[in-house]
Amino acid sequence: MVRAEGATAAATGSLELPADHPGFSDPDYRARRAAIAEVGRRHEPGQPIADVEYTAEEDEVWRIVSAELGRKHRRYAAAAYLDGARAVTLPTDRVPQLREVDARVHGLTGFHIEPVPGLVPTRQFYGALAGRTFLSTQYIRHHSVPFYTPEPDIVHEIVGHANMLGNPVFADLYEAAGHASVRAATDEALERFSKVFWFTLEFGVVWEDGELKAYGAGLLSSYGEIEEFRSAEIRPWDLDQMGTLDYDITRYQPVLFAAPSFGAMVEDLGAWFRAT
Ligand SMILES: [Fe+2]
Repeated sequence: MVRAEGATAAATGSLELPADHPGFSDPDYRARRAAIAEVGRRHEPGQPIADVEYTAEEDEVWRIVSAELGRKHRRYAAAAYLDGARAVTLPTDRVPQLREVDARVHGLTGFHIEPVPGLVPTRQFYGALAGRTFLSTQYIRHHSVPFYTPEPDIVHEIVGHANMLGNPVFADLYEAAGHASVRAATDEALERFSKVFWFTLEFGVVWEDGELKAYGAGLLSSYGEIEEFRSAEIRPWDLDQMGTLDYDITRYQPVLFAAPSFGAMVEDLGAWFRAT
């Protein structure tokens, strides 16, 4: 599972698919992407979020993926994530509308979920978090490969991030991250920040009762990687090291950093964001 906001940002709203994208040769899929992007493009911040009419095929992808991820979360997800997911209670039989996810999450933690047509520049994505707003794509992965996506789609955004944002502890961490990104004056500072975000809120793991559990949205929305993360090289919690370590968004992460406990992660990462 890749997460583009941690990498060099793509152009705002770019609808171009790379040649190796599963939907590249499917004109119907490309047309759906364009139609769904248009809903995000028309959205005005603060205004009601228009619904996307998802097709039966798209709902079926959501059904398959959310059922499998739900099973894996019960085994591999950190307790704080499960608390958030229980509170948000996403539908399992259809793609949720951002309108309803936004209402649910906002009622729980004051965080808003807002649609965007596609990937947004790094500073825009992180900067929105400072205003307790998560910018979300709405398209869904190609139906031929329900357990794979080369880019963040609505499964990643909502099953990964929105479920986290249903927990006030995570919501405050995301907001602190947003403020840190705004204070990152140079590209180097923003890159260091992005790497720490990547190795924590996207791919973080934590020790709970002697077991390694995942709390990062990238791991928790990846059907394959969620079962493989314990095979990665697990390094001790080290924010300085995270901030300088390169990562490859196109493969399972070979190195992960384990927090000694959820409380220690929240305290240390929050302090780092506030001091950055
Ligand atoms: Fe993400």
